[in-house]
Amino acid sequence: MSKKLPFIAGNWKMNLTISGAKALAKSIVKACADLPEAEIVLAPPFTALSKVKKTLEDSSVKLAAQNLFWEEKGAFTGEVSAPMLRDAGCQYVIIGHSERRQSFGETDEGVNRKIKAALKSGVFAIFCLGETLVEREHGETMDVITRQIRGGLEGIGGGELKSIVIAYEPVWAIGTGKTASPGQAEEVHSHIREKLALTYGIGPAECAIILYGGSVKPANSFALLSEKNIDGFLIGGASLEAESFIQITREAIRAYKEKK
Ligand code: PGA
Repeated sequence: MSKKLPFIAGNWKMNLTISGAKALAKSIVKACADLPEAEIVLAPPFTALSKVKKTLEDSSVKLAAQNLFWEEKGAFTGEVSAPMLRDAGCQYVIIGHSERRQSFGETDEGVNRKIKAALKSGVFAIFCLGETLVEREHGETMDVITRQIRGGLEGIGGGELKSIVIAYEPVWAIGTGKTASPGQAEEVHSHIREKLALTYGIGPAECAIILYGGSVKPANSFALLSEKNIDGFLIGGASLEAESFIQITREAIRAYKEKK
């Protein structure tokens, strides 16, 4: 995992059958053969992981899961562990997505345990954080982000930071069509990098990959990625169609090159 390329992840959420996921992965892999200048990761639902893994085999596209449980095995009906994800071929796992925080009661402490479990099994974590609309309107955005970073990364050392991608996803922008403006996103991204620098030093903070997520579309991706501290995207809705996902990737590559 390196910051040399823009990092583009598709979060398919609870969508697609196995055959639908396979077909989408196939179209993306085909298009990606011409796009070696991006690190591309796809996160299908659990049921489709193994089929999508097969489709990705001869490509540079990586596989991610959307969640895990921190225990390795045992009587935890319905849960999936980090060693199981590793076994299924996942190089990444999304942790702490706001939908999980809001609908399934995930806390910063639980997110922290999940990140540690992923790293222990050699799976990179895509650690999500972001404020709600009420928090933003009350001027609490930076406090919330600081709390989520502290809580999520508690006890995680500088060496381990290299295995974590951070995704800033303002809750009010997810699936709503309302994107944070490039300026709003950059403000939070630079705050995240500052906080990382305080704990881990400037070097590791500079190397950290920080994604933006929340209604990313082909039309807004160039401007967002042109911002200094935005290194890639976590894409929901627009990742469910190969064409829009690829178009965003192309725009990201273009912006990344201009920015360098
Ligand atoms: P969205 O979702 O692109 O549909 O807003 C982003 C996400 O939830 O990761």
